[in-house]
Amino acid sequence: MYLEKVELHHFRNYKEETVHFHKKVNIITGKNAQGKTNLLESLYIMSLGKSFRTNKDTEMIGFDQEFCRVKSTSLKEGRELEIEITIGSEGKKLKINGIKTSKTIDLLENVYMVVFSPEDLKIVKEEPEKRRKFIDRELCQLKPVYYRNLGRYKKILQQRNSLLKQQEGTADMIAVWDEGLAEYGAKLIQERKRFIEKLNRISKEISRNITNGKEELELSYEANISVKETYEEQKEHLIKTLSKNLKNDMLRRSTSAGPHKDDFKISAGGIDIRHFGSQGQQRTAALSLKLAEIKLIKEETKVSPILLLDDVLSELDAERQNYLINSLEEVQLFITTTELSEELKKQLPQGDLFFVENGRVNKLEKNTK
Ligand SMILES: Nc1ncnc2c1ncn2[C@@H]1O[C@H](COP(=O)(O)OP(=O)(O)OP(=O)(O)O)[C@@H](O)[C@H]1O
Ligand SMILES: [Mg+2]
Repeated sequence: MYLEKVELHHFRNYKEETVHFHKKVNIITGKNAQGKTNLLESLYIMSLGKSFRTNKDTEMIGFDQEFCRVKSTSLKEGRELEIEITIGSEGKKLKINGIKTSKTIDLLENVYMVVFSPEDLKIVKEEPEKRRKFIDRELCQLKPVYYRNLGRYKKILQQRNSLLKQQEGTADMIAVWDEGLAEYGAKLIQERKRFIEKLNRISKEISRNITNGKEELELSYEANISVKETYEEQKEHLIKTLSKNLKNDMLRRSTSAGPHKDDFKISAGGIDIRHFGSQGQQRTAALSLKLAEIKLIKEETKVSPILLLDDVLSELDAERQNYLINSLEEVQLFITTTELSEELKKQLPQGDLFFVENGRVNKLEKNTK
């Protein structure tokens, strides 16, 4: 699939702008703070209905404006797909091919995107929350039912925790939430288990290729409670764990066990590279994870996702840059950069070059500097 066009209205520092894209490579250049990342963000919200930079939708509304609107036209399996997202103070409105819908879940499974920015290096080296977010984002994209289960789990967890915080609830009142928490929690755990197994298989191969066989990545699920064979066993185990921990939870005023504390381990050659990896190893791992995401989306959905590379090429050495760009056949690429490198110039014959300045996008002639 590929994006043909985006129309922006009061989105961040853009007032009114329409941009037509190339079906293969789109290189977006410009000085700092001109709107390059904003443009990618406007594309990304088409996939999950939310930004990759912020959880607050209203931040995307232009300063001093009431609302913003982004409309995109893509071509998917020969058919046009039009998505319109309007964000105002009362929330988000969506239209898919002209039909209104109020639910983000309807948006999923339309546009598949993978974004890779310097922030993503944090997936490898920072706290477990970053890795959970990575898993959740991917699984939401792949499985709308996961999106629903995650939303329900978080809501129930919040209710249980707020009761624990108030210290007014009795053990019985708190335990009321356990059945639901275990139901959705078990679903998340089982889905995450399968996802990490698949991602492990793919990223192993990719990391081997990137490092010319020198290194092989190994991903393993570090679930907060033990992982069971089936959903039923998992649910039962989670209920038991919640009730075993209840007294402790009441003392600590929060729910101590469950998938909201999950992590996954990233190792290479027996070394946990989350903590002990060199910068180069951590970069290879982040790149492998991103490329594995793309491959997995393709395997599961038969659709080639769109890849957004925000300022990330300068973080990679020439060899890794080369590997990245050349391993992406069929994928529509959006690359932002302040400097047009030699590697990128080589891509221009199969793409377009854009120049962003102060919230305006100009398409430059091909092969110009
Ligand atoms: N809601 C908003 N309304 C108006 N302007 C905004 C809004 N949010 C951010 N901006 C501005 O948009 C400008 C461009 O931001 P953007 O992140 O797209 O820059 P960039 O071109 O990617 O720069 P860099 O090369 O430094 O990454 C910034 O100056 C920022 O202050
Ligand atoms: Mg930027």
